[in-house]
Amino acid sequence: MKRTLVTTALPYANGPVHIGHLAGVYVPADIYVRYLRLKGQEVLFIGGSDEHGVPVTIRARKEGITTQQVVDRYHELIKRSFEQFGISFDIYSRTTSKIHHQFASDYFRRLYDNGKFIEQTSEQFYDPETNEFLTDRNIRGECPRCHSLGAYGDQCEKCGATLSPDELINPYNAVNGNPLTKKETKHWYLPLDQYQTWLEDWILNQHKEWRPNVYGQCKSWLDGGLRPRAVTRDLDWGIPVPVEGAEGKVLYVWFDAPIGYISNTKELCDAQPDKYGPWEKWWKDPETRLIHFIGKDNIVFHCIVFPSMLKADGSYILPDNVPSNEFLNLEGDKISTSRNWAVWLNEYLDDFPGKQDVLRYVLTANAPETKDNDFTWADFQARNNNELVAIYGNFVNRALVLTQKYFEGHVPQRGELNDYDRATLDEFERTRREMENLLDAFRFRDAQKEAMNLARIGNKYLADTEPWKLAKTDLTRTATVLNLALQITANLAIAFEPFLPFSSAKLRQMLGMPEVNWQHLGNMNLLPEGQMLGEVSLLFEKIEDNAIQAQLDRLARIKQENEEAQKAEERKNWRPAPIKADTSIDEFDKMDIRVATVLECKPVKKSERLLEFRLDDGMGGRTILSGIAQSYPDPSVLVGKQVLFIANFPPRKMMGIESQGMILSAVDADGRLVVTSLTAPAANGAQVG
Ligand code: MF3
Ligand code: ZN
Repeated sequence: MKRTLVTTALPYANGPVHIGHLAGVYVPADIYVRYLRLKGQEVLFIGGSDEHGVPVTIRARKEGITTQQVVDRYHELIKRSFEQFGISFDIYSRTTSKIHHQFASDYFRRLYDNGKFIEQTSEQFYDPETNEFLTDRNIRGECPRCHSLGAYGDQCEKCGATLSPDELINPYNAVNGNPLTKKETKHWYLPLDQYQTWLEDWILNQHKEWRPNVYGQCKSWLDGGLRPRAVTRDLDWGIPVPVEGAEGKVLYVWFDAPIGYISNTKELCDAQPDKYGPWEKWWKDPETRLIHFIGKDNIVFHCIVFPSMLKADGSYILPDNVPSNEFLNLEGDKISTSRNWAVWLNEYLDDFPGKQDVLRYVLTANAPETKDNDFTWADFQARNNNELVAIYGNFVNRALVLTQKYFEGHVPQRGELNDYDRATLDEFERTRREMENLLDAFRFRDAQKEAMNLARIGNKYLADTEPWKLAKTDLTRTATVLNLALQITANLAIAFEPFLPFSSAKLRQMLGMPEVNWQHLGNMNLLPEGQMLGEVSLLFEKIEDNAIQAQLDRLARIKQENEEAQKAEERKNWRPAPIKADTSIDEFDKMDIRVATVLECKPVKKSERLLEFRLDDGMGGRTILSGIAQSYPDPSVLVGKQVLFIANFPPRKMMGIESQGMILSAVDADGRLVVTSLTAPAANGAQVG
């Protein structure tokens, strides 16, 4: 049996971790590792924080603290969140560690010395005032597609276009607004094109079993043809490039971070060589299977770039599988750290103390294994109340309470089994095998479903045998039924251990079950007859509506804050539209613009846009429809005001009402319409010119 090395994507230490991280990477990896450990296999579980790269420097600027302070703060916070949620890393270290700096630096140098890189000089955007080269994300300018201002060097958030900084019109430094020039700079590239044929064979032929989303992404990268990729950057935060003439340059974060998997393994093995052996055993021995758990935005790095780096060295094993998940959304919207659209793990625990397993359960039940999925608070509540409480918790509680009631808390003696008992056990056996197949295939969502099915079987067994009735007539048969029910609860403690470790520990405490072992699953003699049960408490509690409402209110508040921030941002970037082509006084004179007083103003029924104005135009009055309803939620504010309107447009019918002209409005920076008025009263019907 091979040993297994499991890695999880190193999260950027630029913010706390949220449910998307947990669902996409850390819970599935933890389930898998716990399962292997339960089976007694040799396994190592590696995690850590990714502390280099641009995201942490942006965060530092935003918070007005140093980059080191940012990574110190979030590394600790993230580490604690993972501990609290039972993510059972063997090591959780960081890429600013000394060991890592040394290791990554040596790795680069080795490839450099062996001629594995190509050197290339290119022109990059440069801020002459601050003397720095800028990364894509720190360059902004006018979008070449939609011409909105403030598009980023890699993307326009207004129209969604993927951009390169060269396409931006009038690029400027996002931090200080300085205009940018171009300057030559030298970088080192990993020539991925040279690995193309090898990758095609290794992935497309030899790893057809990878998840379709992973395989498909790799195929499309490969079909597109690989190009050399820069592995160094002009930046003052990161691991210095260990080559003469590379002053002011650091290793690209995506070069050093995956090496963090290796350096963290080394850190662990060096500290406890007796327990873990030499680190090379985990990285260079073909008897080790390497599994990377990641999110879908990391696929290319783990399936193409990092394997090429490993191959370039030549002494490393390659990943066996890369079970990548898709994304988890929150209440229908993409999770976003910068927009605070997330459920942060630290905040979750403040609001739901002790309910780690509930979140683990819900995130696995909804895991985005094959497509993007949505987390909703309503579903969270329903799964807790209808599944954890009503099925698993309820079954365990009934088995234990009935045992206390009829047998003073001792595991009762089991007599002859009848056909129904045996049928129940058969079903149990089948479910266990199914679970193993699913776990081996990284299908955690379905595996957990099967675990819950085991609890369902137990629940049904008690409902069908009704020991509370039986006890009145046949205590011997009651003893058999409860013995079996208790053996099933003991099995549940094993089956759920990878998914719900806290609840399993609690249940084992109640049952007096110090050891768990996956091979015992299906064994109906786990609890010896006569064994005294521990104190009984509830495994899960109902979650009430008000707790859910509080979460929804919080999200509604954030949504509103974001909308306001977005508007403010648009106002900031707004510039007046260019002047239209020349016209003439004759053209203008054709337009009959007049003054009128608003007598009445109300929304048009069934229209979101239209307001109906009744005007005193000094000529007997007229009606005009205007598409400004969204800018005037309370149209009565316009009543009594004098406005300007075009009087000589031919009448036009809309929503069954005839509109006799057009009211003049200005389009404000945020798109709101503002009705024009006069600086002093004038006669209704007066002409403007
Ligand atoms: N920090 C990266 C992210 O959050 C993941 C790095 S994974 C590693 O997308 F392999 F580079 F470590
Ligand atoms: Zn755009």
